[in-house]
Amino acid sequence: MSVETLLPAATSIECVAPARVNLLGEHTDYTGGLVLPMAIPFFTRASIAPRGTDEYHFRSDLFKGPRTLARDDRSPATKHWTDYPIGVLRQLQARGIEPPAFDLHLGGNVPFGAGLSSSASVEVASALAMLAFCGATLSAAEVALLCQRAENQFVHSPCGIMDQFAVTAARAGHALLIHTRDLSCEHLPMNQGALAETQIVVCNSMVRHSVASGEYGVRRRELEAGQAVLRQQFPQLRDLGDATPAQLEAARALMPHESYLRCRHIISDNGRVLQARDAMFAGDPVAFGRLMLAGHASERDDFQCSIDEVDFLVETAAALPGCFGARLTGGGFGGCTVNLVAREHSASFAAALKHAYQQRYSIAAETYICDAVDGAYARSPVATNLELAT
Ligand code: GLA
Repeated sequence: MSVETLLPAATSIECVAPARVNLLGEHTDYTGGLVLPMAIPFFTRASIAPRGTDEYHFRSDLFKGPRTLARDDRSPATKHWTDYPIGVLRQLQARGIEPPAFDLHLGGNVPFGAGLSSSASVEVASALAMLAFCGATLSAAEVALLCQRAENQFVHSPCGIMDQFAVTAARAGHALLIHTRDLSCEHLPMNQGALAETQIVVCNSMVRHSVASGEYGVRRRELEAGQAVLRQQFPQLRDLGDATPAQLEAARALMPHESYLRCRHIISDNGRVLQARDAMFAGDPVAFGRLMLAGHASERDDFQCSIDEVDFLVETAAALPGCFGARLTGGGFGGCTVNLVAREHSASFAAALKHAYQQRYSIAAETYICDAVDGAYARSPVATNLELAT
């Protein structure tokens, strides 16, 4: 890694980061568990150029209001969209990377509040642009961790590592199995056997989701309380990623019922991710789809992070021709469902699902038929500068 500050590039540099959808393993990423996201073809484009005055300037055609900061400004977050790139800037500064004055512009098309990682996409695109502008390089894992810290410490949103890591390190045509304890990862091909004849259809319930809002933090605290009890009972456990159903049952009476349910979801979802990995290698969409449906039931009943609209979308999807499986994806309490659908049915599936939702809730859902795309590194013009630490 090089942290020295070089002269600013003379012309504008553009970095692009995708969005992500998570196929399985939900809320497992802050207790050492497994997640299986893929990057999807929405993008944030960060364009950075030198600025004549000794300031940082942030503007966007996606968000309201530009903002200018003195280079030595260290004021806290202001609940403005610029908190995200400024949080990233602060983390770079904390590592000794002090970009020269710049003008940063953000564009793109990631839907906001849909649980598709619009924040991580903004953070990672901004981080890569600032790094390239300084001539500094960090590994993919370091970029992801830096962006997560920006969100945790500056924006005060208690997210895990999945989104930033997926957006940074994903590979086209693959899902990314992340072992969140040590950030090792596996790129799992999505084109084995009959899986090659399927597509991922994302359905946006249009009910807004936000990690920064209270429910995510409440679930996280309930889960961590359960994990603490388990660790006390079984000192060899590093985190919930190691825990077994039998250990949870043995400790059940020692923890609040909510914590028991949250832990049960995590332990069973970690198991489902491993089974999904087998299903992917076997090219078996039927097995994969069953795991998605079981994952949804667990989110709904044990983690209790679903809502009626999303349950309706999942149940309706599961009954439609060509659908192998469906579930809530992302943080929950709104947002999107992810559906595994036979390619030949994906367009009619999307239309039927939207129609049913409109009839039931009078809400116009959006659907996105997605293939897995590359993470920010591979799509970035500065990709050759950067190494992928996997
Ligand atoms: C949000 C967070 C992630 C993860 C998911 C739930 O997307 O940003 O870190 O916890 O929710 O799996």
